[in-house]
Amino acid sequence: MAAMRSGIAVVAAAFLAIAAVSHAQAPAPAVTPSGPQNVTAILEKGGQYTTFIRLLKTTQQDTQLNSQLNNSFNGNGYTMFAPTDNAFNSLKSGTLNSLTQQQQVALVQGHILPQFYTMESFQTASNPIRTQASGADGPFTLNITTTASNSQMNVSTGVVVVSVNNALSVAKPLAVYTVDKVLLPQELFGAKAPAAAPTAAKGDKAKKGDAAAGPAGSDDDVTPAGNAAGARTIGWGVAAIAALVGYLL
Ligand SMILES: *[C@@H]1O[C@H](CO)[C@@H](O)[C@H](O)[C@H]1NC(C)=O
Ligand SMILES: *[C@@H]1O[C@H](CO)[C@@H](O)[C@H](O)[C@H]1NC(C)=O
Ligand SMILES: *[C@@H]1O[C@H](CO)[C@@H](O)[C@H](O)[C@H]1NC(C)=O
Ligand SMILES: *[C@@H]1O[C@H](CO)[C@@H](O)[C@H](O)[C@H]1NC(C)=O
Repeated sequence: MAAMRSGIAVVAAAFLAIAAVSHAQAPAPAVTPSGPQNVTAILEKGGQYTTFIRLLKTTQQDTQLNSQLNNSFNGNGYTMFAPTDNAFNSLKSGTLNSLTQQQQVALVQGHILPQFYTMESFQTASNPIRTQASGADGPFTLNITTTASNSQMNVSTGVVVVSVNNALSVAKPLAVYTVDKVLLPQELFGAKAPAAAPTAAKGDKAKKGDAAAGPAGSDDDVTPAGNAAGARTIGWGVAAIAALVGYLL
């Protein structure tokens, strides 16, 4: 037992030394989740997501996601794009009310990916990316585009394009990114969508990468995210090692 412990200690020390070196290059503080993450609490702390929180509640997607997070239903984790209150305010009035309950569920699920992505791992994700929402034609998808330097990232539904600059929380298994547009799904708001789609331009085919059919206003605020995501990734590595060592001892 003593030999095993010292073996573990050596391995742990090596990992922590590596982590410490990496960490020295990372200025932002790391996020260490303790216990199951609570998406509602994360959004409440963010302070500008009251409409999205309400929508999560009325569609019961808050309890759904929280229980998935607690029970690790999906070992790949989750990523959420959380639209701000401004994003909802810039929708044409009546947009949400024009949706059936089932479509509202799909709208919310269209903001959630069944995979944990850091800013870095988005760069290697292959389009189209599946969301939690699905309809008659299969899962609703999003496309991610990044610049080569990874300094800029856009997410597109085909109807709405928005840049992603700020992470609200990145701690495996859940990453939450702020978006200042509601990700109106092509399946509900595209030119061929069957639903009443108040924001879709009549007769106009939504062009690829064209946000014109989406909500007016809400210009993309470009706020440099720095390398905070990198620091969070490293923070997760340290947390994982700490958890592993704790478990083994
Ligand atoms: C999650 O956080 C919200 C808001 O703080 C709280 O009302 C709710 O009870 C929490 N849920 C769980 C499962 O802890
Ligand atoms: C997480 O799941 C465990 C076991 O199913 C349960 O006892 C616990 O209350 C849950 N925690 C939260 C915050 O929901
Ligand atoms: C993101 O979208 C903006 C506006 O639509 C565009 O100018 C920019 O080139 C896009 N960037 C990437 C990385 O796709
Ligand atoms: C998303 O990407 C896929 C693969 O590159 C492409 O076929 C599809 O047209 C794109 N969809 C949108 C809405 O940009």
